[in-house]
Amino acid sequence: MEKLGIAITGSGSAVPETAVDNQALTQLVETSDEWIATRTGIRQRRLAMATESLSTLAAAASSQAIAAAGIQATDLDLILLATSTPEDLFGTACRIQAQLGATKAVAFDLTAACSGFVFGLVTAAQYIRTGVYQNVLLIGADMLSRWVDWTDRRTCVLFGDGAGAVVLQANDRDRLLGFALKSDGTQNHYLNLAYAASPQNLIPDVNVAQGNYQPITMNGKEVYRFAAQKVPEIIDKVLFQANLSVDQIDWLLLHQANQRILDAVAERLNIPEHKVISNLANYGNTSAASIPLALDEAVRQGKIQPNHIIATSGFGAGLTWGAAIFQWGR
Ligand code: UT7
Repeated sequence: MEKLGIAITGSGSAVPETAVDNQALTQLVETSDEWIATRTGIRQRRLAMATESLSTLAAAASSQAIAAAGIQATDLDLILLATSTPEDLFGTACRIQAQLGATKAVAFDLTAACSGFVFGLVTAAQYIRTGVYQNVLLIGADMLSRWVDWTDRRTCVLFGDGAGAVVLQANDRDRLLGFALKSDGTQNHYLNLAYAASPQNLIPDVNVAQGNYQPITMNGKEVYRFAAQKVPEIIDKVLFQANLSVDQIDWLLLHQANQRILDAVAERLNIPEHKVISNLANYGNTSAASIPLALDEAVRQGKIQPNHIIATSGFGAGLTWGAAIFQWGR
C-alpha cells in the first residue's frame, strides 16, 4: 500500500563558529546590551566569516538530519532550500545536492523570508501526500549578516546566521495535523531587501536597469504589531482545523524574532511559558533557519519526544505568515 502520510523523522542544524555578543556591537553602533536584551531577548548571534558559505552550513545541517532519519543522501527524492540569502540568485539548493551526493534528488530554492521553513514544510508535504516523492530534505538557511546595514542599529543587532534541516518521509500515519499559509503584499514595504537600479542606456531607446540588492530595511513597530496579531490568529485556526485544543500542544515553536513576540503570542493563546521553545538569546533572528534550528536543539536536548504535538509558526517579509501543527516522529 502506498504511504501518503507525512512524518518528520530527523533534524539537524549548524551555525558559524564566531559568536558576537551585544557588548561587541557597541563598537559599531550607538546601542547597549541592556537595550538589545530587554527589547528583544537577544544576547549574542553567530556570524559567518567571509570564508564561510551558506551551502556548506546547510549541507552540515542536512547531513545530521539525514543521519538522524536513518536514510542515505541517495534516498532523497527532493531537496527544498528555504532561503532569502542564496549564494547564487539562480539557486543554491543544487550546490547542496552536490555536496551531499544526493544524486537522485531534484533540488530548488524557495523564498518566503522568515516564513520559509513553514512554507517549505507545507510544500514538501504536498509532494508526499500526492505519492510523488517519499523522502524529502527541507532546509532553512540564511546569512542575513551579508545583507544588513551594519550602521543601522534598528536592524543590525537583530539578525544572525544559521541553518537547520529536517527529513520528511512518507508514512502510514499522517503526522502533519494541520496547516495554513497567508500572504499580504499590501504590507510589503514594511520589510525589504530590495533591488535598486539605475537606468542604463544601451542603444537609442533601449534603457535596461543595472544595480544591486540594498541592505535590509524594516519598520519594526509595524512588523511587531502584525506578528503579535496574526500569529495567534493563524495558530488558533489550525488548531480548530486539526480538531485539537490548545492544551494538547506540547511545544510552541515560533520563528525566533523577538522574545517579546514569543511571550505575547503564548499569552494570547494561553500557552504556559514552559512549553515555549526559545533559543534566540544565543542566535538572534536567523530568518528561515530559526525554526529548524530551535527544533533540532530541542530534539537533541530530549525536550521534544516522539508523539509530542508541536505548533509552529513563521512570519515575516512579504508579508507572509503561516502555521503548522505536527507530531514528532513516525
Ligand atoms: O523576522 C522577521 C520578523 N521581524 C520581526 O518580527 C521584528 C518585529 N519588531 C521588533 O521586534 C521590534 O519592533 C524591534 C526589536 C525591531 C524594535 O523594538 P521597539 O520596542 O519596537 O523599538 P522602536 O523601534 O520603537 O525604537 C525605540 C527606540 C527608538 O528611539 P526613539 O526614536 O524613541 O528615540 C530607536 O531609535 O529605541 C531606539 N533604538 C535603539 N536604541 C539602542 C532602536 N534600535 C536600537 C538599538 N539600540 N539597537
